[in-house]
Amino acid sequence: MPLFLCLFLLLMGCSHKVKIVAPSTTEPRVAHEASSSRHMVATQGEATSRAALGILERGGNIIDAFVAASFVISVERPQSTGIGGGGFLLYFSKSDHKVYAFDFREVAPIRSFAKMYLNKAGHPQALLSQEGALAVAVPGLVKGLHEIHTRWGRLPWKETIAPAIKLAREGFPLYNHLQVAIEDRKQILRLDDDARSTFFTSRGEVPLLGTIIYQPDLAKTLEIIAEEGSDGFYKGKIANSIVNTIKNRQGIMSFNDLKNYKVKERTPVEGEYRGLKIYSMPPPSSGGIHVIQILKMLEPHNLRAKGPQTTDAIHLTAMAMQRAFLDRALYLGDPDFHPVPQASLLDQHYLDKLSTSLNRTHLIKAQDLKPLSLPYESSETTHFTLADKEGNMVASTQTINGWFGSGVVAKGTGIILNNEMDDFAQKVGVQNLFGAVGGENNLVEPGKRPLSSMSPTIITKDGEPYLALGSPSGTRIISCVAQTIMNKVEFEMPLYEAVAATRIHQQWFPDELKIESPFLSQKVENELMAKGHKIVHANLGCSVQAISRTETGWTGVSDPRGEGLAIGR
Ligand code: DON
Repeated sequence: MPLFLCLFLLLMGCSHKVKIVAPSTTEPRVAHEASSSRHMVATQGEATSRAALGILERGGNIIDAFVAASFVISVERPQSTGIGGGGFLLYFSKSDHKVYAFDFREVAPIRSFAKMYLNKAGHPQALLSQEGALAVAVPGLVKGLHEIHTRWGRLPWKETIAPAIKLAREGFPLYNHLQVAIEDRKQILRLDDDARSTFFTSRGEVPLLGTIIYQPDLAKTLEIIAEEGSDGFYKGKIANSIVNTIKNRQGIMSFNDLKNYKVKERTPVEGEYRGLKIYSMPPPSSGGIHVIQILKMLEPHNLRAKGPQTTDAIHLTAMAMQRAFLDRALYLGDPDFHPVPQASLLDQHYLDKLSTSLNRTHLIKAQDLKPLSLPYESSETTHFTLADKEGNMVASTQTINGWFGSGVVAKGTGIILNNEMDDFAQKVGVQNLFGAVGGENNLVEPGKRPLSSMSPTIITKDGEPYLALGSPSGTRIISCVAQTIMNKVEFEMPLYEAVAATRIHQQWFPDELKIESPFLSQKVENELMAKGHKIVHANLGCSVQAISRTETGWTGVSDPRGEGLAIGR
């Protein structure tokens, strides 16, 4: 549109821009958006953002800041992540212009087996993989952080853990999300003596907002790890406590499981989108493949011309998500156990076919959606994003899965153990905590990594970092990351608006289009229903943490839906 026409329309009070619907935030926008010509940090925790920035300011490099942020967020968001869990890292290294991917995802114990969560009649027992000792997979976080730091860290290991030890010992005021999570999981947490003494009042009640939460046992555990490196976790006193706690509660993890845990360096999954290069997490995460599939399916449909949050744009986006999630259920799993047809899923001809299949005025019902043939091929979580003055970027998603994981604390250590076993399929076609159905490739096998949706993503433009992001929230992560990229790249929204805009989610099964609050206009929702979408209003739970390059440095945004902090200097 010519500039003079734009100005005229603007003066008339009718800009051509569509007003974007976005959740209102209770906190000032200032905490959620920052810009800087040097370092930038966006995380889900205030103490975490400040600690990571402090490390960069003291001369630490981006890997030191990544390690510090990982340990502090483990203390600050014990409901979401921790050293009893695992995660993924994507790292753009400026010195060699290369993106590295690391997998420190949890693995199934040696004594696990495919039918371990079925009763005698063969029926799934959902709670067994979600609560208690059988839900726990072998944690990978500490080994991941230690190996990555040994390879690239600049500051001494101990210095990167110091801020987390201080926070665990000195405590922090209880905030809303942590209080909601304690309330939600109070039945299971009260069964564990250590969890009860940390997260409840002496009378066993959920504490009031602002009550200081101290984690002295975790502080001691972190001190051991600071002294001994990852051996301090996988061997000796801490390992004893983990194994004995699990044994006493009828679990199956052993010393050998801990001793044998291996971190994996993986090759990032790559895609081209509107002239940009996308790098994201490969299997055992499904995130990278499906974020790229969704973007590539939509690219030829020119959503920019239709406008964001219009019926057509949402209808197409939801159908692209539906296609991607069908592929997820059919083909994805741990590539070290079953080949994932990654090249075929991202093959241009296949994506063209998927894209053409979206030319429909009506949604196809989940049970009627047929997979397209693949071309032949020779074969509660947290996220933070960092950037530094040298031009390095980090995107890392880490988790213990559900709120407070399995609800089991390794006695005397303050370590909340994950319930990542629930990311496996208990049985083909059975839904997990996030309603996702799994296929053959994602059944439990000893030593196998459960399928993830975590999608730490880094996008480059002309070889230089342009945008890095990620989010928690199970299968919704894929939709939230893909939509944020579309908002920024396709609809050219400023980063804050791209993160804040109302999001949708479609995961093939259940056959629903989830729309978060504030909802889209009644007119758009009516039109979507007429196209066959069953609309469900729901909180999607995502908390996108994103950093993008600007003319003068970086802009950082911590999702206004959460308590996070974007801060730069
Ligand atoms: O790996 C996954 O996809 C899940 N375990 C992530 C869990 C999650 O995001 C929970 N967040 N709120």
